[in-house]
Amino acid sequence: MGQIIEKEINGYPHIIYQHPQQENNSVDLSAEYLCRTKSRRSIREFSNKEVPREVIENIIKTAATSPSGANKQPWIFCAVSSPEIKSKIKAAAEKEEKINYDQRMSEEWKQDLEPLATTWQKPYLEKAPWLIIVFKQIFTYSSSGEKRNHYYVNESVGIACGLLISAIHHAGLVTLTHTPSPMNFLSEILDRPDNERPYLLLPVGFPENSIYVPKIHKKPFQEVAQFY
Ligand SMILES: Cc1cc2nc3c(=O)[nH]c(=O)nc-3n(C[C@H](O)[C@H](O)[C@H](O)COP(=O)(O)O)c2cc1C
Repeated sequence: MGQIIEKEINGYPHIIYQHPQQENNSVDLSAEYLCRTKSRRSIREFSNKEVPREVIENIIKTAATSPSGANKQPWIFCAVSSPEIKSKIKAAAEKEEKINYDQRMSEEWKQDLEPLATTWQKPYLEKAPWLIIVFKQIFTYSSSGEKRNHYYVNESVGIACGLLISAIHHAGLVTLTHTPSPMNFLSEILDRPDNERPYLLLPVGFPENSIYVPKIHKKPFQEVAQFY
């Protein structure tokens, strides 16, 4: 008798789970991943060195493996390399950000941003070879045009973005988690349908040579973990 690798459960096909990790070396693997991840930083000065489209495709494919509420996968990752579209995005983002810095942000918010030395100017939106704009899909349409629900959309898209950022870092590239606000201009410029809302804007590329990043501190382990 051959091994059963597929069977119906609840009337639906299930496949046998193939766990990739055979050896018991989780301690080494987790330490290695931690070590690589610790060097990730948000970068605001990009080189214009090209990044092959295949790399961007692999990064997006990684993000798209993410878990999601009822497996609805309520996301789309728009990858932009067109200089014309990047220029439009930069102009629109800077227009909103200038109003934010001049009028909308509270004093507390501005003080919190001071150590990061951010301004309303966003040259990286043109200089980085790629922009990935993540849209959340708040619902979808069935093939017959009916509205179908999505569940835990923010949680699902947030997790997918975490994987995206990690994949960018592990590909030897850098990014910035950018949230221009409001960001409806992204839907207009990219002509996105009415079930989608912009979620994050990530420039992706290589860092400029010899740049500085803010000297920030991450909370100590005791403050972020509690064991019971
Ligand atoms: C949800 C979110 C929104 C952010 N928005 C912006 C932004 O609009 N502009 C910016 O320069 N940095 C933005 N950041 C980057 C943070 O400032 C940065 O992650 C933080 O200072 C920690 O630095 P690190 O990423 O180098 O660890 C954002 C980060 C997150 C997670």
